[in-house]
Amino acid sequence: SRPFTVLGIETSCDDTAAAVVRSDGAILGESIAKQDAIHAQWGGVVPGLARDAHAAAVGRVVGEALAAAGLSSAADVDAIGVTVGPGLEICLRVGSAHAIELAQRHGKPFVAVHHLEAHCLMARLAARAAAPPGSAEQLPFPFLSLLVSGGHCQLLLCRGVGDYAIIGSTLDDALGEAYDKVARLLGLDVGGGGGAALEAFARRGNAANAPLPVPMARRKDTSFSFAGLKTAVRTRVGKLDGGGSEAERADLAAAFQLAAIAHLEQRLRYALRWCAEQRSAQADAPIGDAADNDGAARVPPLSALVVSGGVAANALVRARLGALCEEHGLAMHTPPPRLCTDNGVMVAWAAIERLALGHSDQAEGTEVRARWP
Ligand code: KG4
Ligand code: ZN
Repeated sequence: SRPFTVLGIETSCDDTAAAVVRSDGAILGESIAKQDAIHAQWGGVVPGLARDAHAAAVGRVVGEALAAAGLSSAADVDAIGVTVGPGLEICLRVGSAHAIELAQRHGKPFVAVHHLEAHCLMARLAARAAAPPGSAEQLPFPFLSLLVSGGHCQLLLCRGVGDYAIIGSTLDDALGEAYDKVARLLGLDVGGGGGAALEAFARRGNAANAPLPVPMARRKDTSFSFAGLKTAVRTRVGKLDGGGSEAERADLAAAFQLAAIAHLEQRLRYALRWCAEQRSAQADAPIGDAADNDGAARVPPLSALVVSGGVAANALVRARLGALCEEHGLAMHTPPPRLCTDNGVMVAWAAIERLALGHSDQAEGTEVRARWP
């Protein structure tokens, strides 16, 4: 129960990140090297370039995180965690080789971290950080986690450490990706991020002037889809004379945003209904039967909805999902953007949560897992 410190390392995509976090939730030091400038001209992450940039940065980034924590080397932490999947295989290998080497050299416990688990658990660290010191657990299991970023669009039921159910994923684009593409279609300056540019531009428009259909409105499930909505915007822009006036394009931006967020709301409603059904099925089950049911039938009441990822910065997303949570008596957590994007803190924290339960992994022979359900 003595507090312990963990060094977390993340290289699964295009961010080289490291952090030192203490088991009581204190973030002692962090560092990140982003590769946006390297990949910008290619329109996407180029794995080979990403690997080279990770290899060039990982030693320095780890050193900076340790130094920020007032430590001189990895010998001074209690354990090391690293993202081993899912992600770009050649990128994952850079961080995991580095972490394995450190763990072996200094004889430290090692934790192989699942990237999406780290995103989910990070919300528990953020909730703790936002609460007064010494207060009770802020985000108990189970909770729903809606991860909406440029690369992810997933709704997960987080039942416990290592115990998740994917309730919904996107059939095509991630929501942030759709925001970025639509911002470009509308000719916005996407230098500061397509999502933020589109949100600001949409405030000048009126969705009612150019309504767009809510994706899959008749499909009663929890899958997401944004490609059709993006195509609908492209078709509308094409029909506007010379790309349309600024006012016409702002109306389209507002309509895109309204339809996309209505889609999120609708999917969440189905998800909440499903969770409620699982619970009442459990209540109806004959005594003695519950233990034989699969995980889905053991769902206790939800504590909260966590909305994380870059899109969680959107004011309309927060307002609409906040209202939906209020209607369902759920707390809504939107962790700070810095912790929602890929970072080292979430990896260190996921390792802490696993170590606290007595779990660790063998450093030797640990393989990366590009695909990891
Ligand atoms: O989590 P994040 O920073 O990282 C990656 O996915 O790598 O998410 C970035 C995404 C981008 O697609 C961006 O357009 C979107 O989040 N985003 C937003 C807003 N701010 C960022 N989308 C909608 N509204 C915003 N205000
Ligand atoms: Zn991520």
